[in-house]
Amino acid sequence: MKIAFYNTKQYDQEYFDKANQKSGHEIHYLSCHLNKETASLVQDAKVVCAFINDTLDADVLTTLKDKGVELIALRSAGFNHVDLPSAKRLNLPVVRVPAYSPYSIAEHAVGLLLCLNRGIHRAFNRTREGDFSISNLMGFDLHNKTIGVIGTGKIGQAFVKIMNGFGCEILAYDPFPSDDCTKLGARYVSLEEIYTQANVVSLHCPLTPETHHLINEAALEKMQDGVSIINTSRGKLVDSKAMIHALKKGKVGLIGLDVYEEEETLFFEDLSARGIQDDVLARLTSFPNVIITSHQGFFTHEAMLNIAETTIANINQFELDGSIQNNVT
Ligand code: NAI
Repeated sequence: MKIAFYNTKQYDQEYFDKANQKSGHEIHYLSCHLNKETASLVQDAKVVCAFINDTLDADVLTTLKDKGVELIALRSAGFNHVDLPSAKRLNLPVVRVPAYSPYSIAEHAVGLLLCLNRGIHRAFNRTREGDFSISNLMGFDLHNKTIGVIGTGKIGQAFVKIMNGFGCEILAYDPFPSDDCTKLGARYVSLEEIYTQANVVSLHCPLTPETHHLINEAALEKMQDGVSIINTSRGKLVDSKAMIHALKKGKVGLIGLDVYEEEETLFFEDLSARGIQDDVLARLTSFPNVIITSHQGFFTHEAMLNIAETTIANINQFELDGSIQNNVT
């Protein structure tokens, strides 16, 4: 099938070309994001492959449908960027990669926490400058600390397993508790209890109307002084301005973010020559106890392999008999 592949980076092409070797789909790699201006570049492709920072709103979906597109193949697990009611109305199926490597994101969350806690990012800079002092780099043992995990699906559980290995007490919140997670050592409690008791809060739930700005001023106020917050899920789970306020007051000790509220136009691009235009992001990056990575939690060899292979398998299935696997509903 002919596939219009938007938002291509060199690494995407490398992994998708390999995964497509047997299937032989005709992939047209486009470097631009998918949006209202670029939707018409789809030409006569039957499938559009899109990423998390592409726009798939009603206008774009209508243009794609009018151009003869029959399938939207997301190369991501998250789908909050797709107007699903419009896709349904247009009879345009949307498929995704539901699980590619929960370990990649869980391990990144742990990496952020360890780096922040022990000041590794600061030590890296110091020693390169010949500064071998350790003042202000004191961390805390994770052993015996209380970790609050919000969202205990695939990634949340992988995170619980790792933190259990550190000897932490793990409190979990999820509207759909899992026995498997309890067996991994977590204890389900209310959100309130997580806020009041956890030394570290790590977010692993999806972005929905209920979870939008879940971590806001009121939630932060309830938390332990010096709490560490890790968000590898979606930027809008956190109110960034409330976070800055809490950092300035010293209420929050450490913040590790792999996602940011307004990341769509920033992340995955090299904007170093023009400086950060987003004042909230610029303020966040100015704190020594904040680390921001640009949505790279998924970016491991194993995850990329799975993403490419599952996306091609989703397209193969559709080509074979028109059936939809890994449908987003
Ligand atoms: P999953 O679907 O396996 O688990 C999500 C869990 O969140 C489910 O157990 C669900 O019941 C729970 N949940 C739903 N509403 C909730 C609420 N209001 N409060 C607390 N929990 C709630 O998803 P998975 O694979 O574990 O992914 C989790 C999130 O990680 C995704 O939604 C996505 O936003 C993010 N993600 C980030 C990546 C990165 O590169 N940084 C890559 C992939 C996913």
